[in-house]
Amino acid sequence: MCGIFAYLNYLIAKDRKTIIDTLTSGLSRLEYRGYDSAGLAIDGDDNEVLIYKQVGKVAALKKLVSEQSVDFEKEFVSHCGMAHTRWATHGEPSPTNSHPHRSDPKGEFTVVHNGIITNYKELKTVLEKKGYIFESETDTEAVAKLAKFLYDTQKSNENLTFTALVKGVIKELEGAFALIFKSVHFPNEIVATRRGSPLLVGVKTEKKLKVDFVDVEFGTDSAFAPTEEKVEGGLLSPTDGHPKLRRSQSRAFLSEDGLPQPIEYFLASDPSAIVEHTKRVLYLEDDDIGHICDGELHIHRLRRDDGISAVRAIQTLEIELAEIMKGSFDHFMQKEIYEQPESVVNTMRGRVNFESHKVTLGGLKAYLATIRRCRRIVFCACGTSYHSCVATRAIFEELTEIPVSVELASDFLDRKTPIFRDDVCVFVSQSGETADTILALRYSLERGALCLGVTNTVGSTISRETHCGVHINAGPEIGVASTKAYTSQFIALVMMAIQLSEDRSSMTQRRNDIIEELKKLSEHIKQVLNLDKELYQLAKDVLYKEKSLLIMGRGFQNATCLEGALKIKEVSYMHSEGILAGELKHGPLALIDENMPVILIMTKDSLYPKVQSALQQVTARKGQPIIICNDGDEGISSQYKTIRVPQTVDCLQGLLTIIPLQLLSYHLAVLHGVDVDFPRNLAKSVTVE
Ligand code: F6R
Repeated sequence: MCGIFAYLNYLIAKDRKTIIDTLTSGLSRLEYRGYDSAGLAIDGDDNEVLIYKQVGKVAALKKLVSEQSVDFEKEFVSHCGMAHTRWATHGEPSPTNSHPHRSDPKGEFTVVHNGIITNYKELKTVLEKKGYIFESETDTEAVAKLAKFLYDTQKSNENLTFTALVKGVIKELEGAFALIFKSVHFPNEIVATRRGSPLLVGVKTEKKLKVDFVDVEFGTDSAFAPTEEKVEGGLLSPTDGHPKLRRSQSRAFLSEDGLPQPIEYFLASDPSAIVEHTKRVLYLEDDDIGHICDGELHIHRLRRDDGISAVRAIQTLEIELAEIMKGSFDHFMQKEIYEQPESVVNTMRGRVNFESHKVTLGGLKAYLATIRRCRRIVFCACGTSYHSCVATRAIFEELTEIPVSVELASDFLDRKTPIFRDDVCVFVSQSGETADTILALRYSLERGALCLGVTNTVGSTISRETHCGVHINAGPEIGVASTKAYTSQFIALVMMAIQLSEDRSSMTQRRNDIIEELKKLSEHIKQVLNLDKELYQLAKDVLYKEKSLLIMGRGFQNATCLEGALKIKEVSYMHSEGILAGELKHGPLALIDENMPVILIMTKDSLYPKVQSALQQVTARKGQPIIICNDGDEGISSQYKTIRVPQTVDCLQGLLTIIPLQLLSYHLAVLHGVDVDFPRNLAKSVTVE
């Protein structure tokens, strides 16, 4: 949903080409967030701004820039550049609608934006009345023009700062935004701010930093922040206290000798664009205004009296560059499917004790008693994350004996779902930045529910704003289609259920059985991955020319059907529908004839006889289903094409049946010539409603 990136060097000479390369390589890492157009802004030769924009992916922008007749070797000791990759929300993909947006043809103010300004029409009307001429159909242009308008009305004020100006701008904005501003009036300065969309700042410097530590207790409000041990320093301005304060404060970055020091700053929508430069980052919070000037970063609050500190801890990123590179794989999606034998182990690492059959999720420890006492648990998520909730609801209810409801975050708000103080709401999100899920979280917080997060992104909004939670530790997921995050979310939720039920001795055997099977999971996944060639042939010989594919199953496999169908439609553009087999006779059976491709999931659990009857219903209508079943199931007639996966305990079987569908969707996409990691109209992180 758009990626923004900015780079500022201070007292380090960089030529224009290096600056452009830094910007475009940062953008490439964010491309999964949106990829219909891209743009960048850099300095010209005489305090002017050069803006280049192109429809298509970052490669097209790079080509456009390389063809310009500018002096690529010109050096800048200090320079601020910004870049953007877009997923269109207002206005079709076109160079004019691409970012950066400018306030005027001279580009006095230049802006990149991720999010949606909901009151842009009102702002535009006012500004147009004042004579501003808009060139694009975007909401963002109103922000750039508003900055110029405020500047023009206040420029006689000698004390006008870039920060004060941006404060004035964002006071007028409604909606969600992460914004970065650059201006010819404030050369080599950047102002960055956010509300509802993520934004972080990476800091790189050779010199040791002098950081003034002030003893402050760790906040106890989020046992969910595993990085808190790693805090190295922080920033301060002003010094108001805040319960979320982690540890340290400093006035700004200063070298030990107190002299101005060479330093580089990288601002981005997510860490993947920063990690190749530095691992030291700080996350901006809603209504923070970060100002970089003369090598120093200062954080200001939009309103000083909002009771929220402007101290932001510096965290050390845990991801490695190699983790976000494709390696020998053709696509991130493929790489991420193949990472699952490892990622599932990482999700369990240090949490599941296979000897004592115990699960310990550190992030939940302090809240176990409260959760056990709650009147119900509400799972809330979108898309694939929602499916991981559907997949684990039954085992959660069985082990904890607490009623669990599963909500789509967008519908949760539309319905104004009643939420009470004795509810526990669990927000599941790979990115931790999905707007619908964040809004549902805030809604639940307001109503006093205990809110848990299950995310894959340390430092994300959901991990920060929930009371506690679990990081799934699947490693960066770059492919737009979520694969390894699904299996890790699934395991994280099962682990939660096991831990919550540890006070129930009647469940001991069930828990032990599950833990024993979790131990074998990685090996089982490897066995399923061995089916890859077979699945490719199936995609090529049987399915890829088809228009539609129905995926059926029931019980624990219902989620697999929904998730498999989502994977197939999003990456191969083939229509696919997940159908609860028990519902067949209530309508979907009408679709079945000899031409309708069907996959039926029929694994050995207590519902096997019922799925057998679904098979009969399909074959009686001349359907020829492909059956996903267990190794060694001899009861299935050889007339059917089968995909055989190892048998495991019923509630974990979905972790193995989803993998053939992930692989199948991948092969269908490649056969259809789809750009697998960038399917049309989608974005990895949906940070707008
Ligand atoms: C599908 C997919 C999406 C996401 C959904 C929620 O492959 O990736 O359906 O699952 O947009 O995203 P997160 O989990 O980041 O909240």
